[in-house]
Parts: sequence; C-alpha cells; structure tokens
Amino acid sequence: INKLEKYRPALHFSPKKNWMNDPNGLVFFKDEYHLFYQYNPHGSTWGPMHWGHAVSKDLIVWDELEIALHPDENGTIFSGSIVVDWNNTTGFFNDEPGLVAIFTHHLEQVHGKLAGQKQSLAYSIDKGRSWIKYDGNPVLAHPSKPDFRDPKVFWHKETQKWIMALATGQSISFYSSPNLKEWKFESEFGENCGCHEGVWECPDLFELSIDNSNNKKWVLIVSIGDNLQYDKGSRTQYFVGSFDGKEFTPEHEDIKWLDYGKDNYAGVSFSDIPEADGRRIYLGWMSNWRYANQVPTEGWRSQMTLPRELELREKKGEYYLVQNLVRELDTYFDRKEERTETVISDKESTIFEVDYEYTEIILSLKNINANKYGLTIEHTDSQNTTITIDVKENVLSLSREKSGVVDFSDNFPKLQRVCLKDSHSLDLRIIVDSASLELFINGGEQALTSLIFPDKVSKRVCLFAEDGEVNLVYGKVSVPSKN
Ligand code: FRU
Repeated sequence: INKLEKYRPALHFSPKKNWMNDPNGLVFFKDEYHLFYQYNPHGSTWGPMHWGHAVSKDLIVWDELEIALHPDENGTIFSGSIVVDWNNTTGFFNDEPGLVAIFTHHLEQVHGKLAGQKQSLAYSIDKGRSWIKYDGNPVLAHPSKPDFRDPKVFWHKETQKWIMALATGQSISFYSSPNLKEWKFESEFGENCGCHEGVWECPDLFELSIDNSNNKKWVLIVSIGDNLQYDKGSRTQYFVGSFDGKEFTPEHEDIKWLDYGKDNYAGVSFSDIPEADGRRIYLGWMSNWRYANQVPTEGWRSQMTLPRELELREKKGEYYLVQNLVRELDTYFDRKEERTETVISDKESTIFEVDYEYTEIILSLKNINANKYGLTIEHTDSQNTTITIDVKENVLSLSREKSGVVDFSDNFPKLQRVCLKDSHSLDLRIIVDSASLELFINGGEQALTSLIFPDKVSKRVCLFAEDGEVNLVYGKVSVPSKN
C-alpha cells in the first residue's frame, strides 16, 4: 500500500490529506448530512484552522468537498456549529431557507496584543457548497475572556430564540438571540460542577426523551482539554438536567463520562434532523490531544468516530446516556459466523477466523464463574488488542500495548479501563477498522473508543477464560458486505 493509505479507515471518515480535528457544523439539510471539521490544508499536524467539508447520504460514506471556510482578517476558523434558518431570522435568505455557520474567529497573539476569540457568522444559499461571511462579523466578543469559543447553536422553541452554548474557560456560557446577530448573555454554568481537569471546550445542549416516553431532560456535553498533570488526556463529560431558555441546572453531583476510551473528543450532535426521524445523532473526533499530532499516519491525520444515536435512560432515579451506532451501518456488514451456547473454559479458547478489511464482533456472555475472561483480537501473529474482564474487580480493560505501532507516545500503550456495573453477564459489540476499535457495552450503556495501529485489521478473534468458565450464549462475527 502507498504511504497515504496505510491505516486508512474503511468505515470512518478521514481526510484524504492533511490534518483534521473537531467535527464542526454537523447538520442535515436537503437530504444530505454535512460534516465540517477543523482542518489544516498546509500539513498533517495542527496549524492554521480552516473548515473542511464532507457530505453523506447515509452517515457512513462521505464525499470530501472543497474547503468551506478560510481564515481572514478576523483570524483562523475554530470550531462551531451550523443551523438551518427556516424562518429567515437573519434576513440572509430572501428566496428559500439556507444554512448559517456560527464559528469562532481565533487570533493568535500579535505584537503583544491580546489574543482574541470571537464568534462570527457565514451563510450559504447553495447547500453548503459556498459560503459568504457576514459583513457585521464578529457578532460576539468578550474583552476579558481569553477562552471564548466553540459556539453550538439551536432554536429554542419555548422562548422562540436561538440559544448559544459557548466554552468560556472552565465554564459554559449561554447566550440568546432573535436573529443570530445580536446576542444577550443569559447565564454561566460549571462552577463546583463536573470535572475541571482541563479547559472546557466544544459544548452541546439538547433535549432527549427518557426511555422514549414523553418525559424529557436536557443533556449538556462538555469536552475537557488535555492537561499533562493527568493521565487520560482530552476527554468528554456530560450533565443531565433542565434548561429553561436561560439557565442549565444539573440533577446530579457525580461526573458522567461519555466514553471510557481515550479516543473520542470534541463530539457534538447533528442539527436539524427531521422530526419524523427524531434521532439525536452524534460523532466525535477519534483522537486525543495527548498524541494526536504524533499518530503514525503519513500525509493525513485523524478520523471521526462512527455516528452514534444518543438516548437517555433512567435507572433507579439516575439518568444516563446510551449510545449505539446508527442503523445505517448495518448494511455494511454481512453475517459471517454465529455460535450459540458455547462454553469457554481455561482449557480451550473459542476462535473465530476473521481476515477482512473491517469486522464486527457481537458477544453475549452469561453464567460467568471464571476469575477473568475476555477476548483477544489478533491482528497478526505478533500484534493483538486484548479486552479483559476482571470479575472480582468489576473492571473491563483494553490493552493496546501489543496492538502494533505504539511507541510514538508514552501514554498511548497504557490500559484503558471501564468500571462495570456487573461483570457476571456482559453484552459486547465491537467494530474493528484499520486503525480503531469501538466497543459498546450492554447495549451502549458504556462505550470505549480506542485507536490502534496494527499492520492488519484482524486474523482471528479468540475468547478466553481464566480459572473457570463462561457461557457464550450468542456470538456473531460480521464482515464487509461486499465480500
Ligand atoms: C477542541 C479545540 C476547540 C477549538 C479547536 C481548535 O479540540 O481545542 O476548543 O475550537 O479545537 O482547532
């Protein structure tokens, strides 16, 4: 394979060339999903940010288009969102509704002048193919906040206003507007709440129904930037609570993690999914600031997670997010092999042969009396990724120490762990692509997203048990549907 194609994912979006980070401006409009993203067209490390652009009919196969937003005299183009202005509140759309991007203009410190982050607008009347920057930019600045970025905007029906959630240091600030041009400060959230081990970035706020009932709660997603004092690098937390158009009030004190893996950051959800569809679809940047600039791809860097549907569940008065891959993915797989009621013991492991471009593994495990059990995904004879469940500790850990190239970062080979609620029965769904593994535990109650850089995707999957037995109630491996 040529260098550009080594580690190139088959199912995940990655830019053809050069550097990418956060997903931006996720929106559905006129039968297309749009994915914009932080993009440096001048190289494969982070640099002067533009908005790259790709479109998709089904959220899985993306068509990369021209760069959408270029830097200008107000600065480079940091993260932000896009909405459809259905009612022409901006006055940009005389003929028919179009797209408005609300993004951060970022100015590096120049000649001792304070660096600045300000919110600006651009709009498109041709389905996102070309963009006109608003001549009144910027529309929102703050003289004394150096971190003032990543606007996520939505239409709040109850108050008939646009609401902006904005990352403002170690907090999220909410602003409101009738027209996207004039913004009024409403409140600031975050003090004494959640994890503060890094700067807060890339918020998202939306309402979800609980267990598909009429009862609803608001979810606030907040990414936390890398901080070398801690081991985990950049990661994403969320809050569940209420929002009245002015203030967000959480209903819990604990810290809730969106993903227990290292490689899901800055994710946000799509705007303007039609009501008849009704899903809240989310995707994240599948990397970690700790080593994102060093991962061993050549000529391009980074990929997005697969798109996931977010749902809210209630258990014993507690609310938590559940995430599952969008159903559009199903047609990319064909069933390869199924097993039912198979005993996995310390004497003999159970093996699935899977030598394909990408693969899916589904396991339902019960009656566990082993001390440890799990699976090894063998990429080649010497490279593997291992998932081990320690029954006594109730912990699932993923080891990528031997998964292929790991020496570009001290942090990369370290274990990734999830505390399980119950390790005596376990449902797992795993998608393995050329350079990643996405793990969904118990129907998406917990997720673990992890990059890997093996020479080959997979050869075999081996299930094992230590000091006892495990019943594989159901196991299935699936392979690319074109095979
Ligand atoms: C998050 C982030 C954002 C910022 C962008 C710059 O990964 O740091 O806060 O807008 O990346 O590329």
